[in-house]
Amino acid sequence: MIRFFAIPGLILLSLGSAMAADRQASDTTPAEDIATYREYFQQRFPDVSRQQYADGVYAIDAISRENWEAIEEFPPYEPMIAVGETLWQTPFANGKTYTDCFGTSPAQRKHYPHWDAASQQVITLPLAINQCRVRNGEKPLKYKKGRMADLLAYLSYASRGQLIDVKIPDAAALKAYNAGKSIYFARRGQLNFSCASCHMQSAGQRVRTDILSPALGHTSGWPVYRSKWGELGTLHRRFTGCMKQMRARPYKAQSVELRNLEYFLTHMSNGIQYNGPAARK
Ligand code: HEC
Repeated sequence: MIRFFAIPGLILLSLGSAMAADRQASDTTPAEDIATYREYFQQRFPDVSRQQYADGVYAIDAISRENWEAIEEFPPYEPMIAVGETLWQTPFANGKTYTDCFGTSPAQRKHYPHWDAASQQVITLPLAINQCRVRNGEKPLKYKKGRMADLLAYLSYASRGQLIDVKIPDAAALKAYNAGKSIYFARRGQLNFSCASCHMQSAGQRVRTDILSPALGHTSGWPVYRSKWGELGTLHRRFTGCMKQMRARPYKAQSVELRNLEYFLTHMSNGIQYNGPAARK
């Protein structure tokens, strides 16, 4: 059983209303939330710059960072970028390609996730890829790994350096943002943890062989080649993995819930650069 919580009262106090579980998600605005989260991590890890959070746990743990830097010298995800590029350029059966949906540039990362007023939902990049495929008579790709992850590797690689700048344009978008935020702070599963229990309150602490990464920057490096997976995986694969760790029933990849969660969590990282694909332990 996991026993690693030693949450100093001070930290809990400094969480403020933007993170307290007994408040409504709508009690604070997205702008107030960002300020609270940045300030929280600034106090926890004063030497870590905003951009360093894009590197997950390697931003806060020097020893794992050293190992990781060695891995990144010969990136395990490199072959998948090449596969993704071929997929991007290969025409569908109807002769069209992804560029007919997205335009010629593969540097698409900064446009997602976004609120789509027409369909009243959060559109993520994997969802947009499958919408494009279906519009062109192709079967949708699976969302957690394989060809979808390869395509995302190529698009993310082409988008490195783009700034995360998620907008919440209207009341309906705000509702989706707040829904994602509620999911992030809701305690669930047999362990009664929330995402925030591990990635905010306990960031930097050890669970078994892992050190918990901070929530800030959590969506910047995807897709990720994880040694434990032995392959590339998507952000929603990680979300479902963490929900299983919480002994909770995971939402499906690209469900409304996980897209709202991605919307909230990516907004938190506004001002950080996209740097995917990345390698993780
Ligand atoms: C029991 C603790 C725990 C809980 C609760 C938890 N996670 Fe995690 N999570 C981990 C561990 C361990 C890792 C791997 C080490 C790391 O990067 O933190 C991880 C990794 C991640 C990563 C990848 C970070 C990176 O840079 O590679 C994301 C994103 C993430 N979790 C999101 C979530 C979300 C969203 C939730 C809630 C649905 C959640 N986690 C709940 C333990 C937890």
